[in-house]
Amino acid sequence: MSPAEPIREATVADVDRLLELQSLCFGGEAWTRGMVEEELRRPGSIFLVAGSPVDGFACAWAILDDLHLLQIAVHPARRREGHASCLHAAVLDAARRQAVAGWLEVRADNAGGIAFYERHGWVPVGKRTRYYADGCDALVYRISFSSPPRT
Ligand SMILES: CC(C)(COP(=O)(O)OP(=O)(O)OC[C@H]1O[C@@H](n2cnc3c(N)ncnc32)[C@H](O)[C@@H]1OP(=O)(O)O)[C@@H](O)C(=O)NCCC(=O)NCCS
Repeated sequence: MSPAEPIREATVADVDRLLELQSLCFGGEAWTRGMVEEELRRPGSIFLVAGSPVDGFACAWAILDDLHLLQIAVHPARRREGHASCLHAAVLDAARRQAVAGWLEVRADNAGGIAFYERHGWVPVGKRTRYYADGCDALVYRISFSSPPRT
């Protein structure tokens, strides 16, 4: 995968690879096959993949004027090459027509994820205590679509 490689919508043909990436990137919190398939079918879901074979993906919901960024992940061997940044830009572009703001939750112990989101202009606005099954807090982040995208 290279940052120049086109990003496309995920399809049912990607499900097996998406499950591999789920397991590699999220371990015990990986989505199941049923969850991935549900996101592919869900109206308003933005589910994008990059690479051939697929090495990264992003999934979000566009609901009314909010974007909810659910997951963004890149194969561990392909990180720090700008791939998540390209996927992130594509998701925000897809939502920009209708969204006023974006929202996400990230584990408070996910230093890499937090650094990535803050690098891209997301601002911490709250905390959900013991939000995750293992007791970890969730940090809530927001981004305003009136701000120009950061590269
Ligand atoms: C977070 C994640 C998606 C970043 O993917 P990536 O392709 O490596 O990200 P990029 O290369 O586009 O990074 C862009 C910038 O974000 C920041 N960043 C990304 N990963 C970082 C890390 N582990 N530590 C610190 N900063 C990081 C840096 O500023 C980076 O720029 P730089 O490489 O020039 O320093 C990836 O580490 C991942 O898949 N993690 C596991 C899943 C996850 O936690 N997802 C987020 C919560 S859903």
